[in-house]
Amino acid sequence: MCGIIGYVGSENAVPIILEGLRKLEYRGYDSAGIAVRGVSGFEVVKQKGRLAALEKRLEGQRIQGQMGIGHTRWATHGEPSDVNSHPHLGSGSKIAIVHNGIIENYRQLKERLERKGVVFVSQTDSEVIAQLTEYYYNGNLLDTVIRVSSVLEGSYALAIMCLEEPEVLIATKKDNPLIIGAAADAHFIASDVPALLSHTNKVYYLDDKEIAVIKKDSVQFYNQDKEPVTKSLETITWSVDSAEKGGYPHFMLKEIMEQPTVLRDTVRSALTRGTNNAVINSLDINSFNKIVLTGCGSAYNAGMVAKYVFERLCRISVEVELASEFRYKDPIIDSKSLVILVSQSGETADTIAAMREAKAKDAVTLGIVNVMGSTIAKEADYTIYTYAGPEIAVATTKAFSAQLVLLYILAVRFAVKSGKLSEDEGQNLLREIEALPAKAAEILADIDPIQKYASQCVGCKSIFFIGRNIDYAIALEGSLKLKEISYIHSEAYAGGELKHGTISLIEENTLVVAISCSERLYSKIYSNVEQVISRGAKVFLVSNTCKACPDDKLTLLDLPQVNELLSPSLSVIVLQLFSYYVAANKGLDIDKPRNLAKSVTVE
Ligand code: AGP
Repeated sequence: MCGIIGYVGSENAVPIILEGLRKLEYRGYDSAGIAVRGVSGFEVVKQKGRLAALEKRLEGQRIQGQMGIGHTRWATHGEPSDVNSHPHLGSGSKIAIVHNGIIENYRQLKERLERKGVVFVSQTDSEVIAQLTEYYYNGNLLDTVIRVSSVLEGSYALAIMCLEEPEVLIATKKDNPLIIGAAADAHFIASDVPALLSHTNKVYYLDDKEIAVIKKDSVQFYNQDKEPVTKSLETITWSVDSAEKGGYPHFMLKEIMEQPTVLRDTVRSALTRGTNNAVINSLDINSFNKIVLTGCGSAYNAGMVAKYVFERLCRISVEVELASEFRYKDPIIDSKSLVILVSQSGETADTIAAMREAKAKDAVTLGIVNVMGSTIAKEADYTIYTYAGPEIAVATTKAFSAQLVLLYILAVRFAVKSGKLSEDEGQNLLREIEALPAKAAEILADIDPIQKYASQCVGCKSIFFIGRNIDYAIALEGSLKLKEISYIHSEAYAGGELKHGTISLIEENTLVVAISCSERLYSKIYSNVEQVISRGAKVFLVSNTCKACPDDKLTLLDLPQVNELLSPSLSVIVLQLFSYYVAANKGLDIDKPRNLAKSVTVE
């Protein structure tokens, strides 16, 4: 939800900021802007539309400066427009800011400033920060930022420049991510690691309400009482290439293709010595009487899959809650509940709120997170990491798959600890999990049939996904993926539920994608397949249990044999590729679907 970047060093800031914004565009892409500290003041260029539109506008402009800030926006307050784009300036153009977050009390603050004669030019909540900083400025930007942040309510990650302090860049945050990158002769501010990787892999993670005073060759941290804070410089292990497309037309395809490696790395991290392994071993299932899995979107769907695995293996009651609902339902949890927070970014506002609600009720919290140093990674009682590397496409693929394998491993370990599985049974299952990367690679080695089938589906108005039990859980993810990137209406249904209403939507040639990886439920899902075919539907059956023969109404896609409980890790790859190729054939902007942003850091 908006990406911000800042630079102070000895080179021209403009190309560095634009390059950083390119890496952050996944966070929002309805407008973008840049401000640099030029010789005679701030030079600001803002443009509605994608970053490319801003780049075009900058062509031929000789903007120069060794300090600057940039922003790529996902609008919350005020329509996407040039004037609502960031950076925002104070009325006297002495202060320039970029903001990610929402200022909840901006109306009151704005009215107060307007009464004092301050004139606002945008409809955004963010402009109030620039105006307030300029209004309060007393010759010391650090003091002023402390004062301003004490009156802001809501969430913010901010980069701030002041005309009168030409060498100082200030960063501060609350409930939104911000990192400070340190290179030999420059410092950076960014919403996320990929924006910095080509310059440095050394970063400081800013904590809430901390303020960083950043200069070309130094950075100092302070708390709200202006006391110095000591922070350690962390090393990022992600490579520069991991944030590049590497020859693929889209990040999404690259990330789908990376899944065998990601699965291997994540499984290894949990089964061999290291922090993931240690955390998993330290959790004692016997001290819990309930597991709650929560997250948003695909992360919620990972929880839906995991529910079947935990319940079957551990015989413990598992609830799956949408994080956006969890916090408002007065959940029945206590110190005997384990609340598992699933999140790629570790910054999803609703999931963070769910975590805080769980902690307030004394539940034990476990984050399953991809981004090191993120809020959930830092605040959850325990954290285990998916080893997916940076995920740039808005539609998650590899991070989702990595979440699934960690959840399987957790379930197996819990089942053995609670005596529901013998050591041998546990080992056998772990060996099957270790075999998943090779099976995923097998699917990815032969994607032509999926590509061909998808190319025939671009005209579909509505696509249904059906499955039973765990196949239904993964159908939810298949349907979300399709909607998200192809803009085709889609719903996922438990196969047996169709006849209770939804089957009335089936017409001649409606496409139904059926998933069947459970031998014991094959005949059940197949009768649902027959029910829809007899009402005119075409079916794409993704299965490793299929006994039927293909015909003009039924297309089969064979999956490798695998334990039913682990099968979502294979079927999801087909569903991801199906969605990808439908969207690609429609010529859509797959990595940046309309109206979406990758990290939803606002409620
Ligand atoms: C999935 O493709 C989505 N882009 C979205 O549903 C995502 O999974 C959700 O917003 C949660 O994000 P998180 O994993 O970073 O918390």
